[in-house]
Amino acid sequence: MIYSRILGTGSHLPARTVTNADLESIVDTTATWIFERTGIEKRHLVSEGETCCDLAEAAARRALDASGLQPSDIDLIIVATTTPDQFFPSTACLLQQRLGVHGCPAFDLQAVCTGFVYAVGVADKFIRTGAAKRALVVGAETLSRILNWEDRGTCVLFGDGAGAVVLEAADEPGIISTHLHADGAYKDLLQVPGGLGNGHPDARFMEMKGNEVFRVAVTTLGRIVDETLDAAGLAKSDIDWLIPHQANIRIIQATARKLDLPMERVVVTVSEHGNTSAASIPLAFDQAVRDGRIQRGELLLMEAFGGGFTWGSVLVRY
Ligand code: ACO
Repeated sequence: MIYSRILGTGSHLPARTVTNADLESIVDTTATWIFERTGIEKRHLVSEGETCCDLAEAAARRALDASGLQPSDIDLIIVATTTPDQFFPSTACLLQQRLGVHGCPAFDLQAVCTGFVYAVGVADKFIRTGAAKRALVVGAETLSRILNWEDRGTCVLFGDGAGAVVLEAADEPGIISTHLHADGAYKDLLQVPGGLGNGHPDARFMEMKGNEVFRVAVTTLGRIVDETLDAAGLAKSDIDWLIPHQANIRIIQATARKLDLPMERVVVTVSEHGNTSAASIPLAFDQAVRDGRIQRGELLLMEAFGGGFTWGSVLVRY
C-alpha cells in the first residue's frame, strides 16, 4: 500500500496588521464586540499590489525548505483559494511558473474555508494511486478583496495569508483518512453572488447570515468529528491536537468540548489572524510545528466548515 505523509510546512502573512481598534474608524463597531463575539484581536491584510500568489509563493518556499526539497522535486501543485489573482491561469499555474517547475499538474481548488482540507484529500488520493510522489498543497487567500468594508457583519471577521504543506509517498500513514462533504442547499447563507451570466455581475462582495452559519457550523463540525473517529476506530482521547479552521473562537471551543479536549491541545490563531479561509488550517499548523508544540508521531485532527456549504476533516499521524 502507498500512503502519503507530511514532510514539511510553511506559512506567510502580509506585513500590514489591522487591529480591532483600527476597525472602529472604518465601520460602526467596537473592539470589544469583535473580541467577545469572535476571539479576534487583529488580522493581517494585503497591501495594494500584493496578491494571493505572492502569499502562496512565500508559504510554499518555506514548506519546501522545511522539507529539504527543491521545487523541481514536486510533481503536483494544488492551491486552495477563493481569491485567485486572475480568472485564469489558475494561481497554481502562476505559482508553478514562479517556482520554476514545468510540466507537472497544477490546479486550483475552490471550497472556500474547507479548501485546504479538500486539497489535502485530493493530493492524498493522487499519492495513494501512484499518480504523484511529492505534492505541494497550499491554502492562500486575499479575502479582504471580496469584503464589503461597509458591512460590519463580515468585514471584521476575515484576514489574508497563506499556508502550505509538502506531502510525500510513504509506506505507512501519514494521512490516515480524509472526509469531504458539501451541500449546495445553503448557498443563500454565505456567498459572493457575482459571477458570469447569472444576473449579478457587480455583486462581488461576501454576503453572510452569520448567526445562521454559526448554528449549522457547530452541529456539522460535531458530526464530522464523530465520523472521523468512527472511521478510524479511534477514541476521542487518542487525538493529540485539534487544528480547526479558525472562524470563531466559540465554534472552536464547541468542537473541543465535543472531543473532551482541553484548549491547551487546540491550535488557536484566530485571535492573531482572523478567518483566513483556506489558509487558516495550514497557517495554524505551521505555527504550532515551528514553535515546537506539535511533535513528530502525534495524532492530529484538522476540520473545517465554509461556504458552499462545504465541510471536512483530515486525520493525520504527523
Ligand atoms: N460590531 C457591532 N455589532 C455588530 C457587528 C459588529 N462588527 N456585526 C454585527 N453586529 C450586530 C448585529 O447587527 C446584531 O445587532 P441587532 O441585535 O441589533 O440586530 C447583533 O450584533 C448580533 O448579531 P448576530 O449576527 O446575531 O451576532 P452573533 O453572536 O451571531 O455573531 C458572528 C456574529 C461573529 C458573525 C457569528 O455569527 C459567526 O461567527 N458566524 C459564523 C461565521 C463563520 O463561521 N463563517 C463560515 C466560514 S466563512 C467562509 O466560508 C468564507
